[in-house]
Amino acid sequence: MTIDHIRCTRCQACVAACPERLIGAGPVTDPDLATYCLRCGHCLAACPAGAIAVEGVGEAPAGAGVSSAALLALLRARRSGRQYTNEPVAREHLRALLDAAATAPSAKNFRAVKVYVYTDAATITALRAATVACYRRLRGLLRLPGHRVLYRLLGVPAALHEKLDHDARFLTATDGDPLLHGARTLLAFTAPRGWAQGVGDAWLAAHSAVLYAETIPLATCYNGFVAQAAGMDGRVRRALGVPARETTVAVLTLGYPAARPHRALVREGLAAAWDLEG
Ligand SMILES: Cc1cc2nc3c(=O)[nH]c(=O)nc-3n(C[C@H](O)[C@H](O)[C@H](O)COP(=O)(O)O)c2cc1C
Repeated sequence: MTIDHIRCTRCQACVAACPERLIGAGPVTDPDLATYCLRCGHCLAACPAGAIAVEGVGEAPAGAGVSSAALLALLRARRSGRQYTNEPVAREHLRALLDAAATAPSAKNFRAVKVYVYTDAATITALRAATVACYRRLRGLLRLPGHRVLYRLLGVPAALHEKLDHDARFLTATDGDPLLHGARTLLAFTAPRGWAQGVGDAWLAAHSAVLYAETIPLATCYNGFVAQAAGMDGRVRRALGVPARETTVAVLTLGYPAARPHRALVREGLAAAWDLEG
């Protein structure tokens, strides 16, 4: 991060904006700046004089904001889309999704999330086969007597026991594509293995892409089945081409919508506890 002291008006906005307190009154930068600066760009964004540059951070117009009503309407209208046209997703739309994903916050601005883009039919076919095979083997295990005890030991909530059996049965059905819904495009968001915060970073990046997709519009659907299988089975991870040092956090199927919902939904509120009153 550098300050152009000729342009700087000494307003001190950057001092207040730095989350790591690496800019002192003056403004003067801390000697440890190079080591500890997050490159979050808050100082750059706060500077009215345009006197600050941060390596790797570009500038865009501040924007007029979005009304609460427009944002809520978008959030309510977003649906998981499982019906796609046959048209491949245009590269410019994929790039736009990746740009949207890149706007997401990340812990310490670490930005270690990686996005894998799959458009090759043979790769998607191999991924489908590896994932279905994984659930076929799992289904075999689920049929063993005492599997509910195994679930309990694995911490699977009782409410999910029957559901898992249904899922494994449904995914291994031979008609249609219950796993990937016939999608010709997939995205996988990974985080470095062992970086706990990276899991959240990957979800935020994925959901930024999902929300942006509504504006194109592209239909998207998270695919927990593939993400979960990638965690259990090296064959699925290899079909995704994700190295062992990364965790596959979120997988999305996507495509141009072949059907659009006629209504937005209003869901029940989440359980909330106010001021420890239960
Ligand atoms: C973490 C996660 C994993 C999901 N995995 C799948 C999946 O494997 N297959 C699928 O068809 N939908 C999957 N979904 C979509 C959910 O079923 C969907 O979000 C939920 O039913 C609510 O519908 P909505 O997204 O349209 O609001 C997943 C959603 C999330 C958040």
